[in-house]
Amino acid sequence: SQNIYILGIESSCDDTAAAVLCNGKIKSNIVATQKIHEEYGGVVPELASRAHQQNIVPVIDQAIKKAGITKEELSAIAFTRGPGLMGSLLVGTSFAKSMAMALDIPLIEVNHMQAHLLAHFIEEDGFEKPNFPFLGLTISGGHTQIVKVTDYFTMEVIGETLDDAVGEAYDKCGKMLNLPYPGGPLIDKYAQEGNPKAFPFPKPNVKNLDFSFSGLKTSMLYFLEREQKLNPNFIEENLKDICASFQFTVVKILMDKLKKGVKQTGVKEIAIGGGVSANSGVRTALTEAQQKFGWKTYIPKFEYTTDNAAMIAIVGHHKYLKKEFSDASITAKARYAL
Ligand code: KG4
Ligand code: ZN
Repeated sequence: SQNIYILGIESSCDDTAAAVLCNGKIKSNIVATQKIHEEYGGVVPELASRAHQQNIVPVIDQAIKKAGITKEELSAIAFTRGPGLMGSLLVGTSFAKSMAMALDIPLIEVNHMQAHLLAHFIEEDGFEKPNFPFLGLTISGGHTQIVKVTDYFTMEVIGETLDDAVGEAYDKCGKMLNLPYPGGPLIDKYAQEGNPKAFPFPKPNVKNLDFSFSGLKTSMLYFLEREQKLNPNFIEENLKDICASFQFTVVKILMDKLKKGVKQTGVKEIAIGGGVSANSGVRTALTEAQQKFGWKTYIPKFEYTTDNAAMIAIVGHHKYLKKEFSDASITAKARYAL
């Protein structure tokens, strides 16, 4: 039988990405991260759209060349339809539609949040795939959800944040600590060298499987204000301990809800996705949970955690097998439920 080559295109936020999969295996996975947002301390939508427009052709060209194929060998094009920033999504959507038309091959729309979870199905040596049903924990800059995944495309959100996403809380605390954007990876780095019990932060009292991170953010703000009045160098002198204490609290919040989710559903297979699943504290806690609670946990390869196009392409691969193609008149969707 013939090889299935899927080109994935991702442009929902501030990363322009393209990947080629052959029969579900990675051939290339290119990400152009936009540096421009650093100086603004967050993603500027207008600038993100422009950078996507500048990057999209070279990134796709590189992905196809690195895969060692010609664009005429592609079987289909999968793209992120949403959720995300409208201006950013429009660039990827329009380009995918035009390219599919020019090559006369199927076009496949992909939900970004589904893709973060289905990234676990990329064929990868040494990585096991989760068994259905599993609980997905999607933790990123825009989302914090617990999802019951019954099948590739049967997903139900059973818990989510009522305010800030966990990555957003990391980035906002990073800002308070005078760290460059995005603060998440840096807080994680310092946290690994600090004392997690140095400063206790309150954990929110939220019902069911839902989350809240705005209270933690506010208590960090008041805590830092209070301490800096006594010692103007408080942050510099205690950075590692502050980061470790913050991370300890976040990991505790996430793990407590997962435990509740497992109890409620009886499902003990857990897979994580989204940028914050790169976090060392989250990874350690989930690995330990296998021994401690008898769960089976799945942690994706680092490059499939933050935004990438390989995860878009794997969803495209599974939709291709089911012949789930999109119409040429399809449009981007900034808000797109699972
Ligand atoms: O999935 P992603 O690349 O983009 C969104 O869809 O949001 O996630 C980006 C988020 C940012 O908030 C970033 O600070 C966070 O993931 N992040 C981390 C780490 N690496 C990335 N947060 C905590 N620890 C990390 N190691
Ligand atoms: Zn994402």
